[in-house]
Amino acid sequence: MKRLAGKTAMITGAARGIGLEFAKAYVAEGAQVAIADIDMARAQAAAQELGSAAIAIEMDVTQQGSIDTAVAQTADQFGGIDILVNNAAIFTAAPIDEITRDDFDAVFAINVSGVLFTMQAVARHMIARGEGGKIINMASQAGRRGEALVGVYCASKAAVISLTQSAGLNLIQHGINVNAIAPGVVDGAHWDGVDAFFAKYERKPLGQKKKEVGDAVPFGRMGTAQDLTGMAVFLATKEADYIVAQTIGVDGGNWMS
Ligand SMILES: NC(=O)c1ccc[n+]([C@@H]2O[C@H](COP(=O)([O-])OP(=O)(O)OC[C@H]3O[C@@H](n4cnc5c(N)ncnc54)[C@H](O)[C@@H]3O)[C@@H](O)[C@H]2O)c1
Repeated sequence: MKRLAGKTAMITGAARGIGLEFAKAYVAEGAQVAIADIDMARAQAAAQELGSAAIAIEMDVTQQGSIDTAVAQTADQFGGIDILVNNAAIFTAAPIDEITRDDFDAVFAINVSGVLFTMQAVARHMIARGEGGKIINMASQAGRRGEALVGVYCASKAAVISLTQSAGLNLIQHGINVNAIAPGVVDGAHWDGVDAFFAKYERKPLGQKKKEVGDAVPFGRMGTAQDLTGMAVFLATKEADYIVAQTIGVDGGNWMS
């Protein structure tokens, strides 16, 4: 028996990277999945690759109208939403004396407001439907600590952990579990961008920071998106019903909560 048979999921930022891997894992476990992303061309290509169980939905998590439309479209197409994965995010880095207000606003609009108001829209739908649900927010080890060059992103992920706690406590009365996953360092396009920031600020050759962080992981290497899919599937199943308001590290031992 597939573990998510008959379930429907909306995954933000699923056109590539970790979100796309989650979409593949959910479809493999029998779910229907909406790949909701600002990059519609990539989302459509991903949905096509996944076949009839997947649809592409255009969504900008910084725009309330876009959130509302995307949630309504997903619910209409699938007849309801059982699972939300709040995965869309951006990364930025700079020393404290170089952080700009524009960067701060852009990161918080996606990583924090985007998570909160997408969670709210889907929670309203789940409450009205009366069948409970699962909400999984993508946090980060960065949300558990400060980092000298990563103040804004760290703060945004600390906010995700905090919102997961408050929403988890508030929504469990409706049978809605809210939890988060805190990855460590996961190889992919996102980390290529991170590496470029460190190349600039720590004057390292491209690829050097990536090698250093990978070597420092107790498990012995950087994570892959596939390393996270087990937890993403588990938190969406009935077996995880008693897990409420938690942020679970899946990071090769990189950080202990
Ligand atoms: N890669 C890592 O090392 C790592 C580590 C810890 C946490 N995370 C978190 O995991 C999640 C996925 O990371 P990833 O590496 O796959 O990132 P990624 O950059 O590869 O993918 C992010 C996706 O979000 C989409 N997106 C960006 N802005 C959007 C918006 N306004 N509305 C809708 N979609 C938007 C992008 O188009 C892209 O498809 C993020 O929340 C990230 O912070 C990643």
